[in-house]
Amino acid sequence: MTRIVAVSGGGTGIGRAVCAAFAAEGAHVVAIGRREDVLARTAKELTERHAAQGGRVRALTADLARPEEADRVRDELRAAHGTVDVLVNSAGGNVLIGAPDGADEGTAGAAWHWTENFRANVLTAVLLTEALRPVIASPGGRIVMISSIAAYRGSGAGSYAGAKAALHPYVYDLAADLGPQGVTVNAVAPGYITQTEFFGTEGTAGARHDLLVSQTHTRRAGVPEDVANTVQWLCSPAASHITAQIIQVNGGAERGR
Ligand SMILES: NC(=O)c1ccc[n+]([C@@H]2O[C@H](COP(=O)([O-])OP(=O)(O)OC[C@H]3O[C@@H](n4cnc5c(N)ncnc54)[C@H](OP(=O)(O)O)[C@@H]3O)[C@@H](O)[C@H]2O)c1
Repeated sequence: MTRIVAVSGGGTGIGRAVCAAFAAEGAHVVAIGRREDVLARTAKELTERHAAQGGRVRALTADLARPEEADRVRDELRAAHGTVDVLVNSAGGNVLIGAPDGADEGTAGAAWHWTENFRANVLTAVLLTEALRPVIASPGGRIVMISSIAAYRGSGAGSYAGAKAALHPYVYDLAADLGPQGVTVNAVAPGYITQTEFFGTEGTAGARHDLLVSQTHTRRAGVPEDVANTVQWLCSPAASHITAQIIQVNGGAERGR
């Protein structure tokens, strides 16, 4: 049976790799984000690449930090597909990366980045999940959040890490609620992942790259497929007894030496 898969942040980086992984298994994937052109390009490229397997990716534009937009996504998915088999919440990022100098200074700066990191990482995941709750396939549905190694180690100013950490108890409570209906809920917490827009114009070359790679036991940066493969496995029948878990994908970097 063709699975219906909704992926927030599906236009770029990790979300895009998740879209590709599911399209490769013949799923019908809906990639959700704010930028129409980015989503349209991803949808076209991945649909062409995976047409032979029956995979299809289509774009749906929405700002998922807004409740009415999350509700509109639910209404469109219900009208088009009835139910959704897999929800992957990959939308997010650290608003302090690429912020203007001084934006985080003082109490006004703290209020800004704590609020905006919460909106970008918690509200996008919680609002889409709550909106889609009535249409998640039951039994058999799968929900996956994308957290971060920052939830374990901090993120410098705390707000991005705190926002990701907030997803963990949400995973635990939602898994307890939905488990009896045959739906699993987990998070994947990546370490340093290149080939995404996460680092913006700061990029992933130079001393920071070398430091982050040196912190891994595997001596390499992660790539979006490392995360996508784990998400895909969590959404497979092989992982049907795994729920309420945070799976780290970081080459051992969180453990240190
Ligand atoms: N790269 C890493 O090293 C790393 C490590 C740990 C965790 N993560 C997490 O992994 C997830 C994916 O990030 P990435 O690395 O793949 O970076 P990315 O390429 O910047 O992907 C983030 C995606 O989220 C979308 N997005 C952001 N805010 C949104 C909103 N309000 N509504 C809808 N879509 C929104 C963006 O698209 P639009 O701008 O078009 O909306 C973008 O496609 C994020 O949650 C990030 O925090 C990344």
